[in-house]
Amino acid sequence: MKLCLKFSEWRLVYYSLNIKKYRAQYAIIAYAKIEARWSWREEGFLVRHIRAVYPGSFDPITNGHIYIAERAAAVFDELEVSVLINPQKQSTFAMKERCEMAEEALAHIPNVTVNHFDGLLVDYMKQREARVIIRGLRAMSDFEYEFQTALMNRQLAPDIETFFIVTDAQYSYISSNAVRDVYRFGAAVPDMVPPIVERRLIEKFQNS
Ligand code: PNS
Repeated sequence: MKLCLKFSEWRLVYYSLNIKKYRAQYAIIAYAKIEARWSWREEGFLVRHIRAVYPGSFDPITNGHIYIAERAAAVFDELEVSVLINPQKQSTFAMKERCEMAEEALAHIPNVTVNHFDGLLVDYMKQREARVIIRGLRAMSDFEYEFQTALMNRQLAPDIETFFIVTDAQYSYISSNAVRDVYRFGAAVPDMVPPIVERRLIEKFQNS
């Protein structure tokens, strides 16, 4: 059990110890808040609320990313697509553009939000009180990097879990890199990117 609680959590513990009438009820809530993130359902039930974070460069978001987000959002209560700076890659789109494209492309999934962060992923996860990292796998070639990263993240934050979701075969060859190359040289392949991204890619490479 974590003892490092936020003020709101200490307050729940305080109530659970001091208000006799509601002792049992507050004790349960305090325990639940400490062990995991729980929230009230409209019907009055206390339910566990699992927030997952799907981090990536999303430079730009592709239909492969959208597929992973749809599947993750169907499993977890809340999915936050987090546009992170990958220091190993130089980005084509600015952070604001990447977020805008992701927001529009994911607008059809009600429990998805888009955010951005600069720094260590595990720090961001803690800040957002999220315990699950979502990453997509297209092929075995992705696995080595993902495996190393997942182990590094576990070393840094043992409570945080990485979940891998396998892509659909139709998206297995799609990457943001490939998409940028295709559009940079004036070609297009159907069903690689959502319409907003296609428009932005054309604008970007026509003007450059
Ligand atoms: O879409 P990408 O470029 O494969 O995403 C990689 C990303 C941004 C998720 C990864 O580089 C990352 O987590 N960056 C944040 C820095 C960090 O936490 N590094 C420690 C793990 S090795």
